[in-house]
Amino acid sequence: MKIGIIGSGNVGGTLGSRWAQAGHQIVFSSRSPDSDAMKALIGEAGPNARAATARDAAAASDVILVATPWPSTREALTGLGDLSGKILIDATNPLLPDLSGLAVGTTTSAGEQVAQWAPGAKVVKAFNTVGSNIMANASFGDHPVVLFYCGDDAGAKQTVHELARELGFDPHDAGPLTQARLLEPFALLWISLALVQGYGREIAFQFLRR
Ligand SMILES: NC(=O)c1ccc[n+]([C@@H]2O[C@H](COP(=O)([O-])OP(=O)(O)OC[C@H]3O[C@@H](n4cnc5c(N)ncnc54)[C@H](OP(=O)(O)O)[C@@H]3O)[C@@H](O)[C@H]2O)c1
Repeated sequence: MKIGIIGSGNVGGTLGSRWAQAGHQIVFSSRSPDSDAMKALIGEAGPNARAATARDAAAASDVILVATPWPSTREALTGLGDLSGKILIDATNPLLPDLSGLAVGTTTSAGEQVAQWAPGAKVVKAFNTVGSNIMANASFGDHPVVLFYCGDDAGAKQTVHELARELGFDPHDAGPLTQARLLEPFALLWISLALVQGYGREIAFQFLRR
C-alpha cells in the first residue's frame, strides 16, 4: 500500500519503517523533509521510503497515519488538502502536558475531532494504545499483544487490521469511531502503568476470549 506518515517521530517513524520493510511504499513527512533526522530515518527504513512535505505525502498515499502531538494535530491536518476517500489512521492521544489526564474525552474523543478536521476521510483510531517500543517489536513470546481499533468504515478497518497483523499484533475491531472515547483512556492506562506506576515501557495487554 501507499502510506503517508504525518508526524515522523517515535510513532510515525517506527510504524513507517516497519511497513516499509514489510514492502509498503512509505512517504514520511516533516516540516523539515531535508533534515539529517529525516535522512537517517529514510536510511533505516530502506528503499521503499522517501521524504516529502505533509501535503505531498497525503496526496501520494491511500492510507495516511497521523502521529502528531495532540496540540499540533488540527494544524497538521488542515494543511493536507482534500482527504476524501482516503483511510486516515489516527494514532494520537490527547494527553495533557504532564500526562495526568486527557484534554478531551467522555462525550467526545480525539478520534472524532480528527474526523471533523479531515472531512471525507475514513478515520480509524488505532495504534494509540501501545508504546512506540512495542510497535518496534510486538513479540512477547507466546502472548500476542492486542491492538484495538475503531472506526465507521468496514473496509478501512479491514485495511488497518491487516497493517497491524503484519507487524505481529493481535488486532480486534472495537466498534464505531465513538469507541475512541474508550481507547484513548485505555492508552492513558498504559502510559500511567509504564511511566508513573513503575512497570516500565516493556509492557502490553493481551485479549483473552472464551
Ligand atoms: N510515543 C509513544 O509511545 C506513543 C504511543 C501511542 C500514541 N502516541 C501518540 O502519537 C502522537 C505522536 O507521538 P510521538 O511520541 O511519535 O511524538 P514525536 O516523537 O514528538 O513526533 C511527532 C512528530 O510530529 C511532527 N510535528 C510536530 N508538530 C507538528 C505540526 N504542527 N505540524 C506537523 N507536524 C508536526 C514532528 O515532526 P517534524 O518536526 O519533523 O515536522 C514530530 O516528529 C501523539 O499524539 C502521542 O500521544 C505516542
